[in-house]
Amino acid sequence: MQVFNSSEISKLIRNRRSVFPAQYSGEVIKKEVIDEMLENANWAPTHKLTEPWRFTIFSGDGLKRLANLMSGLYKKVATEKGNFDRKKYEQLKIKPLQSSHIIAIGMKRDKLERLPEIEEIEAVACAVQNMYLTATAHGIGCYWGTGGITYFEEAKSYFDLEAKDKLLGFMFLGVPKGKLHNGRRKPIREKVNWIEK
Ligand SMILES: Cc1cc2nc3c(=O)[nH]c(=O)nc-3n(C[C@H](O)[C@H](O)[C@H](O)COP(=O)(O)O)c2cc1C
Repeated sequence: MQVFNSSEISKLIRNRRSVFPAQYSGEVIKKEVIDEMLENANWAPTHKLTEPWRFTIFSGDGLKRLANLMSGLYKKVATEKGNFDRKKYEQLKIKPLQSSHIIAIGMKRDKLERLPEIEEIEAVACAVQNMYLTATAHGIGCYWGTGGITYFEEAKSYFDLEAKDKLLGFMFLGVPKGKLHNGRRKPIREKVNWIEK
């Protein structure tokens, strides 16, 4: 079996950070990098090879369309529910325009429902991590956001998703303008049990 440079890979994994739109320089990411991220997403593990990840990519004027969709749909649904928050609404109008690209992240349910839903969501999360790491390798900043319209039933149809599918959020992408902050994690030993006898 082929062996890879595990110290480089460990460094990549541990240096990956979520980088937010306010930290983006405004530079547009090369399409080849986005293509590589998507190709690597496609190699995530997938039980029964259902390959449930679906992506819609917004760039250029597409970002304006997404900003209008996010803010407009949020306003409509939140007003109906009685929990409209104007600050959130304003953010939804601005944040997409600060990004180079945004990838809407969907889960397509297997037609035969051969797997529990959670396994399809887990596979998509693995695909998202592949994108995060590929972006990091290119010095690109990104983060997985699940706010706004993510869990609105009304949002699904805009991303080619049907009732049993799920919208799982948005990956915002941009070129970071400064140094990234350090990550924080509690030690792994607090989350692990070894059974040796
Ligand atoms: C499923 C998922 C959803 C997330 N949703 C949000 C979000 O809505 N807003 C946000 O600021 N960060 C979100 N994040 C990113 C986390 O804030 C981030 O991973 C955490 O702060 C740890 O930082 P790091 O990714 O730089 O290690 C999400 C992460 C995951 C895995």
